[in-house]
This record gives sequence, structure tokens and C-alpha cells, in this order.
Amino acid sequence: MSDGGHERTFVMIKPDAFGRGLVGEVISRLEERGLKLVGIKVETMPRERAEEHYGEHEDKPFYDDLVDFITSGPVVPMVWEGQDATRQVRQMIGETDPLEAQPGTIRGDFALDLGRNVVHAADHEDEGANEREIGIHFDDDELIDYDQHDAEWLY
Ligand code: PPS
Repeated sequence: MSDGGHERTFVMIKPDAFGRGLVGEVISRLEERGLKLVGIKVETMPRERAEEHYGEHEDKPFYDDLVDFITSGPVVPMVWEGQDATRQVRQMIGETDPLEAQPGTIRGDFALDLGRNVVHAADHEDEGANEREIGIHFDDDELIDYDQHDAEWLY
């Protein structure tokens, strides 16, 4: 997934953001930062997949709430590409707890609580996270390769 810092990272807009009409806002911020969208879908996540996605938190007291919430409405799983994309996205998203998230970050500007925090992104400190999460949510043929700047009509 990674090529000398140029990498693909998994990001997912959560049901609270979908319900509040924040899908475009989140996508715009990532686009404006210069990241490249290479995969996107809209779905209500099957419970089995949510349990696989959050498997590492199985023993946490909030696990059932987490799975209930992420399956409670539409989500937008996405794959974004760019130089150090994982760290860039984590920086833009801000801390998990909205009270800790800085204004200017996505969670700092929009999140309501620890669970309803607008967006999920793969952890940059967990080396296998992107590959694992992209593999859970996307087939290889759902991700596209293209050159964003190879367009003669773009001024
Ligand atoms: S931990 O314990 O540090 O590994 O967990 P953390 O990274 O803070 O959070 C993991 C995900 O669980 C969500 N979360 C919660 N949901 C509901 N209730 C409570 N109390 C709660 N605490 C944490 C949090 O939003 C994280 O979701 P993702 O999708 O990974 O951002």
C-alpha cells in the first residue's frame, strides 16, 4: 500500500455526519488538502463487517455501543491517496475526544461526543491498519488508478 511515503489510507464518514449533511464538507476538506480519492461507496454496514472492523476493541466496555452506532445508518467508506496520507488525514481529523480535538480539525469543528465523532481514519501508529481496513471494506477492483494532473483540459 505504501511507496516511499506515497500511500493509500482508509477513511470512513460515520452515521452522525451522514445524518447531519456533513458528507460533502468532509470530502471537500480532504480534496482541498490535495489528497486523491481512489475509492468510495455509500452503505449501511452489515453488523458482521462492523465487528470485523472494530475487532481490536472487542474487550472494551464501549464495544457494543460502537458496533450499534456504526451500523445505525449510512456510512461512507473511502480510500484516499497521497504523500504521508495516513498522517495527513489523522492530523486533519483531530483527537478522538471532541474536547481534545483542536478547532480547525474536522472533529474539533463538528464532533459531539466520543462515539459520534464524524469520521474514522486508520491509525498511523498501527502499521497494518490501512491494508487491513481497506481489505475489509473494498475489493481490489473497486479502487481506481489515475493521474490527477494528466488532464490537458485542466488549466
Ligand atoms: S482506545 O481505547 O484508545 O483504543 O480507543 P479509541 O482509539 O479512543 O477509540 C476507538 C474507537 O471507539 C470509539 N469510542 C467510543 N464509542 C462509544 N462510546 C465510547 N465511550 C467510546 N470511546 C471510544 C472512538 O470513536 C473510536 O472510533 P473510531 O471509529 O476508531 O474513530
